[in-house]
Amino acid sequence: MSRRIQLFCCRVEKKPRDTALILALCFARIHPPEFFKEKYAVDEVHYVNEISSVLASKKPAVLLTLRGVNTDSGNVSKEASFEGISQFDVNNKILHPEIAECRVIKTDMELEVLRYTNKISSEAHKEVMKAVKAGMKEYEMESLFQHYCYARGGMRHTSYTCICGSGENSSVLHYGHAGAPNDKTIEDGDLCLFDMGGEYYCYGSDITCTFPANGKFTPDQRAIYEAVLKSSRAVMKAVKPGVAWPDMHRLADRVHLEELTQIGILKGNVDDMVKVHLGAIFMPHGLGHLLGIDVHDVGGYPEGVERIDLPGLRSLRTARRLEQGMVLTIEPGIYFIDHLLDQALRDPAQSCFINNDVLQRFRGFGGVRIEDDIAVTATGMELLTCVPRTVEEIEAFMAEGQSGAKTFDCLSSQKQ
Ligand code: GLY
Ligand code: MN
Ligand code: MN
Repeated sequence: MSRRIQLFCCRVEKKPRDTALILALCFARIHPPEFFKEKYAVDEVHYVNEISSVLASKKPAVLLTLRGVNTDSGNVSKEASFEGISQFDVNNKILHPEIAECRVIKTDMELEVLRYTNKISSEAHKEVMKAVKAGMKEYEMESLFQHYCYARGGMRHTSYTCICGSGENSSVLHYGHAGAPNDKTIEDGDLCLFDMGGEYYCYGSDITCTFPANGKFTPDQRAIYEAVLKSSRAVMKAVKPGVAWPDMHRLADRVHLEELTQIGILKGNVDDMVKVHLGAIFMPHGLGHLLGIDVHDVGGYPEGVERIDLPGLRSLRTARRLEQGMVLTIEPGIYFIDHLLDQALRDPAQSCFINNDVLQRFRGFGGVRIEDDIAVTATGMELLTCVPRTVEEIEAFMAEGQSGAKTFDCLSSQKQ
């Protein structure tokens, strides 16, 4: 890129608390610039107070800075700036779509890091599953996860605030935030929905395990769990290059509706349920999202890809067709959320499909989400996450965990 200088590459850590410019080693003498040049495989490293003079000496035709809209929040990213930038011709439009696209398709090195974040985070989830007991606080599980990631994997940060919902909290989609900081006591009979992912060199992971706190599913917990597992595995079977992501969401919804009918919560024709968007009552979020440097990674809606403004589908963080090298989460869920159930019961177009007497049994049940991270390959997908997933695997693993053994083996489980 002769004489077009990109300023985006200065930033090596994305979180404000860690922001360190490669060009910004102006505090303390830790490592010389050569160290960072080699570590980050960049062409040049300079001190930040030299930025203006170094760039001026290169006489760039234009400086490209990174400014763009986050397609989930609508927020605009703040572009790089420095004293003296006004002497340059700066273009802040070209870079964002290009960088977003680079981030969507992972290189082999990026995939290696994502495999690592998944491996350590999977092990950390297993550590939590072995340790959980009624009477503990949800935040003890958050703390244990973080400790394992850092102590065993050198992963200092998580990709997002841990969601450790137990009992009814398992149906609160973004539980764990400051207003509800994983502070409930876990009770016997609770389902635990733990959504946690460690981060390494800025690359994230995003994994949800749902399991009974006491290690044994009740018949209702098993039925809902297996319904979600069925949709997860149906999507995994269908994923390959060319497939449209909204169709995967629709597939998961359809499996949920079929299974909820089998269980007896719903009645009637599934095609007709789909027409009135009944699936979004039980899964009011998108099936999954791109994953990488951000947990909800960029590039979900490039020019020409439109958000579908329909219940459930409008929450998708991407509506793209899949391509080899994309990394995504597959995270179907079924939740029993009172205000959504009441909304459906008030709507004759939806309530006609609901067996309210059976549904009553599931009030307060919480929810089940199963979230795995996958990489799209030339012919299908690679599963990056490796945790006990079937009811049998979970119950056996937790029983072994309680007795001190730990024998869940990823390789044999993934052969199934
Ligand atoms: N942990 C946030 C999400 O699953 O998208
Ligand atoms: Mn998650
Ligand atoms: Mn996710």
